[in-house]
Amino acid sequence: MGSRRVTITGATGLIGRKLVAELSGAGWQVTVLTRDPERARRRLGEGVAAHAWDALSEPAPAAALAGRDAVVSLAGEPVSQRWSEDAKRAIRESRVTGTENLLAGLRAAEPRPGVLVSSSAVGYYGPHGSEPIDEEAPPGTDFLAAVCVAWERATEPAAALGMRVALIRTGVVLDGEGGALEAMLPPFKLGVGGPIAGGRQFIPWIHAADVVGIYRAALEDERWEGPANATAPTPASNRDFSRALGRALNRPALLPVPGFALRLVYGEMAQVITGGARVVPAKPLMLGYSYRHGELDEALRSALGR
Ligand SMILES: NC(=O)c1ccc[n+]([C@@H]2O[C@H](COP(=O)([O-])OP(=O)(O)OC[C@H]3O[C@@H](n4cnc5c(N)ncnc54)[C@H](OP(=O)(O)O)[C@@H]3O)[C@@H](O)[C@H]2O)c1
Repeated sequence: MGSRRVTITGATGLIGRKLVAELSGAGWQVTVLTRDPERARRRLGEGVAAHAWDALSEPAPAAALAGRDAVVSLAGEPVSQRWSEDAKRAIRESRVTGTENLLAGLRAAEPRPGVLVSSSAVGYYGPHGSEPIDEEAPPGTDFLAAVCVAWERATEPAAALGMRVALIRTGVVLDGEGGALEAMLPPFKLGVGGPIAGGRQFIPWIHAADVVGIYRAALEDERWEGPANATAPTPASNRDFSRALGRALNRPALLPVPGFALRLVYGEMAQVITGGARVVPAKPLMLGYSYRHGELDEALRSALGR
């Protein structure tokens, strides 16, 4: 077990930092590919080997991939920002061109890793009503769905290289250090947070520890292949989620936040929050993944450190 080696891109982010800690603790030797190795070493500790890579303009360095057992691909421009044309281009290209450049590095890596575990997102499915959406559902047609389709497609050559490929369609990650909760918290702490844009749409939430658990399972268990929804077994309606967040913070969740207010602040990106989907983790459950925080009230208290 102790001799397994993995290379991770986007390792300095919200998910990556936790994944590096989990895998290092489990005996994996970790190499990371980053835009800034100095910063990566500061964030991740000296036990991690950090190599420079500009995902947009060059193949990933084959020397940082060769001889590893596995590769995890997490790198990507943050999605939660106002979607200007430049931001949309960066969101798409960092993932699509970035993955193509990762594949170019893997093609040159000898011996080549046996598995690629790549991030994708539940945005793949586009907005839906209350019908359950599993991994068999077709892709949506909006901007994020198109990004996810192209992002996943860019991993396809890895199978032709003889690698097992697992695609982790990640939901809304609950974590105290950033991400969606950080964006939701300020109004709730003031006691004015509430259901968003009607409250009936679903939030496909997942606790950060379970995202990490699912990445680890996909690395270590050969049965994980193709898409897997990294979401909790019980997606919550926005209204129920808001009430649970109010309970976790001991604040009422009374005042609804209208969709138009979000669109004023975030523009098109508001649809990530207002147009959810009831995504269910059929693949993880079928493979026997055991959730660390599968119940919303407990998951929120844990993420918020309460
Ligand atoms: N957090 C969520 O709720 C969520 C939900 C669904 C999907 N995902 C996906 O999961 C992956 C990891 O998520 P995360 O929340 O950990 O992301 P994150 O905190 O934003 O970190 C992503 C990492 O990607 C690299 N990166 C950022 N902008 C880049 C750019 N323009 N070009 C190339 N690399 C760039 C950075 O690493 P360096 O600075 O070291 O290069 C950064 O630390 C992302 O692809 C994200 O889309 C996340």
